[in-house]
Amino acid sequence: MARAAKSKPLRDVADLTKAQAKVEHMRLALELEEHDKRYYQDDAPTVSDAEYDALRKRFNAIEKRFSEFVTGESPSQKVGAAPSGRFKKVRHAIPMLSLDNAFAEEDVRDFVGRIVRFLKLDDDKIDFSAEPKIDGLSMSLRYEGGELVTAATRGDGAEGEDVTANIRTLEDVPERLKGRNVPDICEVRGEVYMTKKAFLALNRKQVEAGEAPFANPRNSAAGSLRQKDPTITASRPLGFFAYAWGEMSDMPEDTQSGMIGWFERCGFTTNPLTKLCHSVEDLLAFHRKIEEQRATLDYDIDGVVYKVDRIDWQERLGFVSRTPRWGIAHKFPAEQAMTVLRDIEIQVGRTGSFTPVGKLEPVGVGGVIVQNVTLHNEDYIRGIGSKGEELREGRDIRIGDTVVIQRAGDVIPQVVDVVMDKRPKGAKEFHFPKKCPCPLHTDVVREETAAGEEGSRARCTGEFACPYQKIEHLKLFVSRRAFDIDGLGEKQLQYFFDEGFVKEPADIFTLPKRNAKLKLEEIEGYGETSVRNLFASIESRRKIALERFVFALGMRHVGETTALALARGYGSWDAFHDACLKVAKGDEEAIAEMDALDQIGDTVIRSIADYFGESHNRGIVERLVKELDEIVDAEKPKSNSAVAGKTVVFTGSLEKMTRDEAKATAERLGAKVSGSVSKKTDLVVAGPGAGSKLADANKHGVKVLTEDEWLKLIGE
Ligand code: IVH
Repeated sequence: MARAAKSKPLRDVADLTKAQAKVEHMRLALELEEHDKRYYQDDAPTVSDAEYDALRKRFNAIEKRFSEFVTGESPSQKVGAAPSGRFKKVRHAIPMLSLDNAFAEEDVRDFVGRIVRFLKLDDDKIDFSAEPKIDGLSMSLRYEGGELVTAATRGDGAEGEDVTANIRTLEDVPERLKGRNVPDICEVRGEVYMTKKAFLALNRKQVEAGEAPFANPRNSAAGSLRQKDPTITASRPLGFFAYAWGEMSDMPEDTQSGMIGWFERCGFTTNPLTKLCHSVEDLLAFHRKIEEQRATLDYDIDGVVYKVDRIDWQERLGFVSRTPRWGIAHKFPAEQAMTVLRDIEIQVGRTGSFTPVGKLEPVGVGGVIVQNVTLHNEDYIRGIGSKGEELREGRDIRIGDTVVIQRAGDVIPQVVDVVMDKRPKGAKEFHFPKKCPCPLHTDVVREETAAGEEGSRARCTGEFACPYQKIEHLKLFVSRRAFDIDGLGEKQLQYFFDEGFVKEPADIFTLPKRNAKLKLEEIEGYGETSVRNLFASIESRRKIALERFVFALGMRHVGETTALALARGYGSWDAFHDACLKVAKGDEEAIAEMDALDQIGDTVIRSIADYFGESHNRGIVERLVKELDEIVDAEKPKSNSAVAGKTVVFTGSLEKMTRDEAKATAERLGAKVSGSVSKKTDLVVAGPGAGSKLADANKHGVKVLTEDEWLKLIGE
């Protein structure tokens, strides 16, 4: 990104050199992101819709000419971000959550078993509503006094986008609920989808008009719904199946199947394949039958959904974090495709580890165009698995090979086979780099496993001197789940880093006071508003929750969940920091204390010790903390239950609940669940087969309860 005068006459996109186009592409990306933010989040747009559309048109024209500029981050690639589709936000009265997945028959049996145990039923006579899992977009339709008032997309589950005007154009969505005595408030939820036929026709039109085709019906439904002009949505045939509800001032029925019948009576379309099942065998037969019919259906489905039919049971079963215990999505097996591997590139991650990425001849797999595939590590390319076993019967992967790739659910596509018959003479073996591709060209080593053996991951030894690692860490630091700093996207950050404005996290916080010299507002495409917003965001982040702070440090093996466990375990930054310094010095008591925390084991402890053992890292942390106003203590689950604040260890086999259920219940009641017994443990719940933990409990004089005594104690 170059500094330049702010306004220049625009040159025709066709006359731009590649370098000029690149600079302008970056500038426009920043500008569009900025306008989107001002429009969506601040409700304060600074340009007219026409000006905005002109910017986007030019941006699209550049991407059309230089397709290599298109990355996953590009504003053109954000799913459903239609040319001028900008919508108001709507907070859902009841969050829109998602379903857990089952893949194997065993998973479905476990699901039913868990429900029987949870409800303490004597037999497994439970009715389930079995429904196709429509691969579209979930939608919440709010009716007040029987009239449609708002239609909102799922968004992040808590807040979606208001697409009411567009939804009103769908034939399957009644403006007014049919029937008398409908509850005053009804939120009807379901899936908006596009038929396969309509998708193919739309893509033909897109290509004829010189526009990019949509990857799959789901994306085209999203794109069609997020049109600013509802007449465009109306011209694109979208359907809606009703299958769930949100806020209801009164429940008209007491079963899921009853509700589906009620939706129909109200004027909705429900999926005709929905069936009431009475046993696990029924569910599995339903799955098989729908899978057979899948290809003949005119809409995409990616599995089936099973839901406990009785709503009072659904309520008792409740949710575990963000998915219900009463429902599950039984997915169809992965889909495969064959294509050619064009090249292999190395990506260097924030902790220096190398990931080889296969660059493919683009291919559609289950409706999604796949261009990249992870090749994991050197051994994987050679055909060796993590335990030394043969992969693909030992067939290695070479550049130029025809490979079979597989996509299962949302996981990253994998290479499941190499077609040896198609291996060309010139297929090139890939030699894993011995030096980091960063400018330091430092040596590459293979990581050690927890057992101290040579692992399969290669890493750069440049540590904090490797610029690739530094920038990756900074990206994590500003990301939404860490410090969440608005206005510092990947491109801007890279630019600030390359220019030396930001070398480490603390530098972000000193930007405002250094700006008299830096003059960020003079950077082309940045502007005063961007700088003002960036600084406002920086100021608002000087107070941060402990778990976010710990995650943002970017220590190896300390992801969000581990950071939360550490934050909850220590409560305050001072306590955690103090423990880390002690752990780094090998203080045995501090190590044992950390080890006693739930979810924390050797690998994490070693990583924390490595990180805090390095004076450079301690400096980074110290300088960062100085810039902050407050690191907010971690919230401990509050409760007045008999076990609130107590540390509990479960051991042996539990008969009335799974470990996960036991843990979820204990945590909900304010207890801390630990993986090992120490003198700080308050209770050990021991089932049959309990071994060393029970012995440890006796050694430390910790109270031991049977499963029944535990249930009695917590009142269940
Ligand atoms: S019920 C608590 N029923 O699948 C969630 N969802 O992972 C209740 N979906 O976001 C959802 N068909 O978009 C339900 N018959 C069906 C569905 C269905 C498709 C989607 C929906 C949801 C996702 C769940």
